Amino acid sequence: MLLSGALAMEVRELAKGVHWVGARDWDRRLFDGLIPLPHGTTYNSYLVKGEKAIALIDTVNPGFEEQLKAKVETLTPLDKIDYLVMNHAEPDHASAIPFILERSPKAKLVLTEKGAKLATVLYHPPVDRIMVVKEGDRIDLGGKTLRFIDAPFLHWPETMFTYLEEDKILFPCDFFGAHTAAGDVSQEIVDYDWLAKTYFGEIMMPFAKSGRNAMDKLEKLEIKLIAPSHGPMHDDPGHIMGLYRNWTNGRTVRKVVVAYVSMWRSTQQLVEAMVQAMLDQGVDVRVFNLAESEVASLAGELVDAEGIVLGAPTVLGGLHPQGLFAAALVKAFKPPAKYAAVLSSFGWGGGAVKQALDILGPTKIDLLGAVEVNGTPMETDLQKAEELGKLMASKVKERPLT
Ligand code: FEO
Repeated sequence: MLLSGALAMEVRELAKGVHWVGARDWDRRLFDGLIPLPHGTTYNSYLVKGEKAIALIDTVNPGFEEQLKAKVETLTPLDKIDYLVMNHAEPDHASAIPFILERSPKAKLVLTEKGAKLATVLYHPPVDRIMVVKEGDRIDLGGKTLRFIDAPFLHWPETMFTYLEEDKILFPCDFFGAHTAAGDVSQEIVDYDWLAKTYFGEIMMPFAKSGRNAMDKLEKLEIKLIAPSHGPMHDDPGHIMGLYRNWTNGRTVRKVVVAYVSMWRSTQQLVEAMVQAMLDQGVDVRVFNLAESEVASLAGELVDAEGIVLGAPTVLGGLHPQGLFAAALVKAFKPPAKYAAVLSSFGWGGGAVKQALDILGPTKIDLLGAVEVNGTPMETDLQKAEELGKLMASKVKERPLT
């Protein structure tokens, strides 16, 4: 949807002198060339006007600069901006930095030390416009005080949060975000928790430890509103913070994610036998045929799954490419699962199981076992898959019910 009317000029007031001036991108369908965005996303930018100075917090994705400019100009001329805060250097929030600095000649670019390095190579701001801040530093805008909170690796090394002390509003950039163009506050989005969970799985799960550190800091703050950089805001911060506490702590449930691909149903028969055994033991199972699944749902389920089963045949001496992709995703996303198993089949030479173990071995996931069959599974092979399913179920059921 090309915005040219009311939505293109939409400005929302969060508190007196604090406005959302971001952009809704209803058309975007892919992020990072990997993550599906079925409902689009937003690039949230916020203008904070004090009695003596004005700050713009984060900017917008390439292509939305004029929309940002038009929105800001409903509140103040661009050349009145004193500070441009860069919480995060990724282009969906920071690429409009040169555009804003050019039109706001007195504005300082406020960022962390690592942010300065990244902004310099990405956006080439003049050195004398850069203002480095660290944990606890403040900028007094006149009745509006911005405090900066170090929050590295959420999800880049330079990330920080900005906290508006008087209004108790937290601007955490990507943290607490979700990809949807809809809504104003998260409670309005009927499937918000799932959207937030898939987003967490794709973006924040590999940085759970950094997330825990950030949560420890945030729990000492009084927060009335969380205003992230993607998706709706949170006027009930306790809800999203509760979810994030669980997710960053790696709290799992009695659930097994089965991700498999099969060419001639040999691997699939092993998968079916193992899945049935786990179902019979009363374990929740989520099955993804990798040939037809998308990353977001898989990532969302991995956020709290206790077990993972990877099923893939050998192709050309190693994992089927879809299985290789899934194994690489598990390694990269660092889900909190405790147990894993591998199912595989081959025609004239194996290799898939060895490659899966090579990839998953260095993770902290305990490999319970593997079943690999040459050709079509015999009854004894299916029994081995069932036994592996029973073992996985017994391990998963050691988790307390939630
Ligand atoms: Fe939304 Fe990491 O950028």
